[in-house]
Amino acid sequence: MSRRPVIAGNWKMHKLQSESAELANAVMKELKDIDKAALPEVVIAPVYTSLYAVNKALTDCGCGKVKMAAQNAFYETQGAFTGEVSVEMVKDAGAEYVIIGHSERRQYFGETDEMINKKAKKILELGLVPIICCGESLEQREAGVTDSHIASQIKAALDGLSAEDVAKSIIAYEPIWAIGTGKTCDSDEANRVIAMIRNVVKEVAGADSADKIRILYGGSVKPNTIVEQMSKSDIDGALVGGASLTADSFAQIVKGAM
Ligand code: PGA
Repeated sequence: MSRRPVIAGNWKMHKLQSESAELANAVMKELKDIDKAALPEVVIAPVYTSLYAVNKALTDCGCGKVKMAAQNAFYETQGAFTGEVSVEMVKDAGAEYVIIGHSERRQYFGETDEMINKKAKKILELGLVPIICCGESLEQREAGVTDSHIASQIKAALDGLSAEDVAKSIIAYEPIWAIGTGKTCDSDEANRVIAMIRNVVKEVAGADSADKIRILYGGSVKPNTIVEQMSKSDIDGALVGGASLTADSFAQIVKGAM
């Protein structure tokens, strides 16, 4: 089974509206000579306040080469939830993907496995694609509980989803100690953990979903790491933080995944 690679740029809390539109345009410019069919699925995730501006830049271009994700969304449709933004709302702003369960959200904003599961269900119900993040801390890795911790995160996130919905989802394995540190996880080890995740998916949703689901690696991905990472059997792409903030390095990563 050949899975279409995904390269997703997580811009985190960076860039004003004009800067976001500029970066989206610059990314499309870098990719303009590449045939759409040859490209991986390319996704960029600006902050909420830039969703409109980035969507406008992407639709004005009309090339359809770059899609947009939100970095988070709440599972309730509307109501008295001050400060939250619903999946309906990010969809309305043009997002086709939503990143959920990023370690920064779990760590700083108290996002739990249960919330991530509710968000995944809502995102899929509305026809969007969840990018479900998981990963271990350095302490967990050193204590030898990496696999059991990640398996439990994945089982919780996918609980109650149909096999078809699981197949459409994307998972990102992001060891917390590799995020923003410049310390990339060894690609054989990343591949081993991702194959383990695929096995968990098989257990909960069956072989067909395990075969179809795209599982990305994230954590200090750079233009000089992507080719080796993509050469591994189970790594289907990358969730890129820092290196997605300049069009040149992000485009190099996209090209490295072709
Ligand atoms: P990084 O971030 O590439 O800057 O390490 C990855 C992420 O947090 O998604």
